[in-house]
Amino acid sequence: MKQTLKQLQQLKGKRRISMLTAYNCPVARSIEQAGILTILVGDSVGMVEMGFSSTRDVTMEHMVYHIEAVRRGAPNTHIIGDLPHLTYENVDDAVANAKRIIAAGADSVKLEGPYFDAVKAIVNEGIEVVAHVGLTPQKATNFKKVGKSQAEAQQIIDESVELEKAGAGMIVIEHVPAELGEKLTQTLNIPTIGIGAGGETDGQVLVINDALGIGDYWPPFSKQYAHVSDTILKVATQYREEVETKQYP
Ligand code: KIV
Repeated sequence: MKQTLKQLQQLKGKRRISMLTAYNCPVARSIEQAGILTILVGDSVGMVEMGFSSTRDVTMEHMVYHIEAVRRGAPNTHIIGDLPHLTYENVDDAVANAKRIIAAGADSVKLEGPYFDAVKAIVNEGIEVVAHVGLTPQKATNFKKVGKSQAEAQQIIDESVELEKAGAGMIVIEHVPAELGEKLTQTLNIPTIGIGAGGETDGQVLVINDALGIGDYWPPFSKQYAHVSDTILKVATQYREEVETKQYP
């Protein structure tokens, strides 16, 4: 049954939280059937599904389209919808766009970086917020691990504490040293969801295309549970041959 972030917070220290991204209806349906607790309709959709070279090209319209599709496939799972790049630079935009993400079918919104006022304002409207620290692709110029120096790690810790104080109900930690993932998990009261942040966070998130092996590049910290692109190639090749030789239909 669909849970709120507040309910998911009760799992901290008791049960690991599973999260996968999804961008369309049939994949979301299978993810819900598997009992995954939370689905993230991430702006990673821009890179892994739409062929953009950055998540910065993703718009509100893209997010609304994909959230609506995922909701149709997963009516009973908590769905987090990403706020795209430059849609929460000021508090008014943040609130208006968060409302659009929720109206499309998400249960909470995620935003990247130390946008404390935006988090506060969205939470004041009764909308649950997931924060995102560490590597934040909307602003990053490369995809290298962050938080490796003492100073950088401390800044991420300080910002995460402030995001929790601002009202964030969960936090995604991307591509940081495992020790920092663990330290953040111990320091914060809200669940930490890691991606490339070691094994000691309260939960894990994977981009579904990485997990399925769709595409030709997967981050080194991700795991391929299947190689679906190989299967597509095999099926398409066999189909072409059968059409050309009249074996099909
Ligand atoms: O957009 C996304 O899929 C994300 C995950 C990588 C956490 O933000």
